[in-house]
Amino acid sequence: MITAINCNGERLGAELAHLATITEATPPAVTRVVFSDADLRARNYFKDLCRKAGLSIREDGIGNIFARWQGSDPESAAIGTGSHTDAIPNAGLYDGVVGVLGGLEAIRILQEKGFKPRRSIELLMFATEEPTRFGVGCLGSRALAGTYNEEKILSLRDEEGNGARDCAKRIGLSGEFNALMLPENYYGAFVELHIEQGPLLEKVGLPIGIVTAIAAPASLRVTFEGEGGHAGTVLMPDRKDALLAGAELALAVDEISRATGSADTVGTTGMLQVFPGAINSIPSRCTLGIDIRDTQLETRDLAVAGVKLTAQEIAARRNLPITIETINSDLPATCDARIIAAAERACETLKLKPLKMVSRAYHDSLFMARLFPTCMIFIPSRGGVSHRPDEYSSPEQIARSVEVLALTLAQLAE
Ligand code: GLV
Ligand code: MN
Ligand code: MN
Repeated sequence: MITAINCNGERLGAELAHLATITEATPPAVTRVVFSDADLRARNYFKDLCRKAGLSIREDGIGNIFARWQGSDPESAAIGTGSHTDAIPNAGLYDGVVGVLGGLEAIRILQEKGFKPRRSIELLMFATEEPTRFGVGCLGSRALAGTYNEEKILSLRDEEGNGARDCAKRIGLSGEFNALMLPENYYGAFVELHIEQGPLLEKVGLPIGIVTAIAAPASLRVTFEGEGGHAGTVLMPDRKDALLAGAELALAVDEISRATGSADTVGTTGMLQVFPGAINSIPSRCTLGIDIRDTQLETRDLAVAGVKLTAQEIAARRNLPITIETINSDLPATCDARIIAAAERACETLKLKPLKMVSRAYHDSLFMARLFPTCMIFIPSRGGVSHRPDEYSSPEQIARSVEVLALTLAQLAE
């Protein structure tokens, strides 16, 4: 086992800063929606860096990029690491990106140390972890895990009605979705480095998190159909205002999520679309995007069932047609004990005290865990802030986490 390794963080810091300039928003805000020009430029930048590190590159039909450091035993299952570079509107520069460029840095410091992996180490940049464009998160990793097949991916549309195949082709990908799933023995282990996106590490004053489980996300799209009309001329008894049904449901999502008996249940109505959206027009349609999660499947599903039932009750009471669509309803993931132990040994070597913790955010690892032993390493997030331009982890925190990742990968690949 390697007993010392050093990441000075300068090279990685410069690369993180450069990637942050590839954005559709005004810096420092980062917006990088999948299959956009910014996404294409970020991909090209990442592939260039991987080529410079001597990695061989493969890109699949939906845009997952695999950059491989060939081991001496190419017959054995590889060790995977990586994350995503797509970013929600008005995001910061660390979410996902630290696991991609930090994964590359971990490989480079192992190379510079003269480490020769027996198993290949493969760095993955997942296509579209964020749900921004097609409404569902982790599209690339869902496809790799076989959770979404070709038919399901082809059924998705963005707001303009474009399908993923046309969008993928537009940035030079094949758009072939029929053979994306990885074989079950493809990775012997998968480790994702990511910022915590929550306040816990900072609160307890520890520099590293080792993730033991990933909470189970679910999301619903609920549409109430009302009757539009003139805001001045339709009297109150004659109205069928779709927004009022939506408002009732948004309050119910909050109430139901607080009442499952599990402190881990969280429910959010993050989208509320009102049609036609004019101040002098009664809303004729209201669509809600609802996100519900828990570490326990039972209480998560209890909340989801409660929200669906309440939505039906509101629709019936207000006499409005309703459609309820389950966008996703995923299982939680348990991290692999052997990888957790390897990460703990890496921390011990580096004299860092880790916190074992649950990931309440979802990640591509949720889907990698369907097929492969999986674990995540977390970096503290200042103020627990994420999905905002002021998201921040210090260069030192990032450098230490890259060292932990490098020593973890080295043990797994030995
Ligand atoms: C990932 O971005 C999440 O919403 O957890
Ligand atoms: Mn995110
Ligand atoms: Mn992320």
